[in-house]
Amino acid sequence: MRDCENATPVILTGDRPTGPLHLGHYVGTLKNRIEMQTSHRQFVLVADAQGLTDNADNPDRIRRNVIEVCLDYLAVGIDPAYTTICLQSAISALSELTVLYLNYVTVARLERNPTIKDEIRARGFGRDIPAGFLCYPVAQAADITAFKATLVPVGDDQVPIIEQTNEIVRRINCQAGCEILLEAKAVVPKIGRLPGVSGEGKMSKSQGSAIYLSASRAEIESAVRQMYTDPGHLRASDPGKVEGNVVFTYLDAFDPDVDAVADLKARYRRGGLGDVALKQRLVDVLETLIAPIRERRAALARHPDDVLDVLRQGTKASKITAQQTLDETREALRLSALV
Ligand code: TRP
Repeated sequence: MRDCENATPVILTGDRPTGPLHLGHYVGTLKNRIEMQTSHRQFVLVADAQGLTDNADNPDRIRRNVIEVCLDYLAVGIDPAYTTICLQSAISALSELTVLYLNYVTVARLERNPTIKDEIRARGFGRDIPAGFLCYPVAQAADITAFKATLVPVGDDQVPIIEQTNEIVRRINCQAGCEILLEAKAVVPKIGRLPGVSGEGKMSKSQGSAIYLSASRAEIESAVRQMYTDPGHLRASDPGKVEGNVVFTYLDAFDPDVDAVADLKARYRRGGLGDVALKQRLVDVLETLIAPIRERRAALARHPDDVLDVLRQGTKASKITAQQTLDETREALRLSALV
């Protein structure tokens, strides 16, 4: 049995570089990463190869956004002194593990994954699903297990992917006759999923409902102005609904002054608090959160080579870790040292 009881627990998580990161990422996973990085060994993966699974015709989009995502990481407080940031496509052991793992999952199981089903629908693939897309949970299993991660901070939509990872882990361990790979647990935020500005669906760049971590004050104002409140709340003096009111959902997520928010809710319900004043508070709260991130990001963006250097160093270190797991797995599956 592996001697890992006393080792620092490992975190692995990642993002497809399909665009800059937004407040949904912040609530869903970035906040957890920042909080956990000092007490854990953390790897964060820029998942460019996974990005290709639904952007096969648009590889430039993925390439362009690798640096954008790195800028977001560093600006938001993911600190390379604690966290290893690495580039998925440059770590060939991950692809090799994926090929091995594909034998320990069935096509029927891949098609049953509820997240994949939703994403296939959202992307309008119909019956023309790229094989790489259907199989990306297997590649993600490779990402997680390669680093011996036991914790994966993600949004709740990723939970079925972690479950599938653990099924693969159990099958391979069973085949190997020892605990060669570790099962992992999703770390999901208590607050749940942040809705888009319209209140429908989650915050997502594809639906134009995102507030980016790099948003200007004007962009924050414009997004908050469009936010769904309570259509029955016509005059400031009317009683209004708090449930389903996106402005309150955001205040719950971002306003550190919980008592003040409770007070605003009571006033809104009673009548006497207008949408304009309510939205102004949210603009201020979001500006307080985003302004320092925006400034750090702008400063970092002036030195793109330094940012890429962080990625380069992190990738170099990650290759060694992933290769070790690949070697062990190859041996366990009787694929090593025959020639
Ligand atoms: N699937 C994640 C996303 O869509 C990205 C990702 C790739 C990931 N590999 C991972 C997340 C490993 C957690 C663990 O953004």
